[in-house]
Amino acid sequence: MTDVGWRKLHELRFPELPFDCGNSSDPGIVYGPDLRDWSAKATTSDQYRIEKYIDRFDLRDRRVLHVGIGNSGLARRFHGHVKEIVGTTIDKPEIRVAQTLGYPNYSAVLHNKYSGGSASLAGKFDLILDNNLTSPCCCFAHLAAMFSFYEDRLARGGQIVTDREGLAWVPPESNRRWSFDFDDLAAVASAAGLAAFRVNRNVYVLSRAAPPTPTIGSFSRHMARRAAMLPGKIARSGPRKLARVSRKAVKWLMMSARSRPPGTHGQ
Ligand SMILES: C[S@@+](CC[C@H](N)C(=O)[O-])C[C@H]1O[C@@H](n2cnc3c(N)ncnc32)[C@H](O)[C@@H]1O
Repeated sequence: MTDVGWRKLHELRFPELPFDCGNSSDPGIVYGPDLRDWSAKATTSDQYRIEKYIDRFDLRDRRVLHVGIGNSGLARRFHGHVKEIVGTTIDKPEIRVAQTLGYPNYSAVLHNKYSGGSASLAGKFDLILDNNLTSPCCCFAHLAAMFSFYEDRLARGGQIVTDREGLAWVPPESNRRWSFDFDDLAAVASAAGLAAFRVNRNVYVLSRAAPPTPTIGSFSRHMARRAAMLPGKIARSGPRKLARVSRKAVKWLMMSARSRPPGTHGQ
């Protein structure tokens, strides 16, 4: 969509947000480090849901761009069965954590996603993961710049993955209109030439066509990995977890019996 298109969308749907903050050198809101630098904090539940979603796919020849690496938990979890992970952050402590891991297929760079592009992030990505697309944003023009950058770097058949909760979250002092719902996301995605899909209650995908369904093989490997994690989860969370897990296991078994991995639900 042209600048005129973004202006029209802004006028019609997002008039409460500034159109252009005028800060071309360092756009975005740098909210408090206690809510931003995640180098020593536990992975958020929204990011976990994104990880759970992508784990269903065969990622062995896939490149992943992880925007907002936090504690690098995603790299720890996926580096062994992904071709390459490139991570970005605006927080130096997160870069240090990433570097200490020493994975040959994981690199992390300082990059502001609202700056509109970067030579340090070469090539196309099959998955672009960003659980907080809008919370640190400053204005509509820089939101458009981020979407144009993501669209440009998205490989053919690729997916931009985000989460309902992360998308809705804004820091306390921020303009509440940056809290986006699915329809807001679909509107800006469409301005960037992408379609939005609800793949489950919480995980949303932006892509050029309907996101792929995992193969039986990749879905089975996902289930096996989840099963291997169960004893630890049950030990940590007790009988209530066991009951919840059992209910889920029955649901999975019924779905497997229908011999098709859970697919996507259209727009
Ligand atoms: C709350 S932490 C979330 C970390 C991790 N994704 C998680 O959910 O566990 C926010 C992350 O977003 C990054 N971030 C904040 N503003 C950014 C911007 N303008 N461009 C790129 N990353 C940004 C921070 O550096 C940090 O890595």
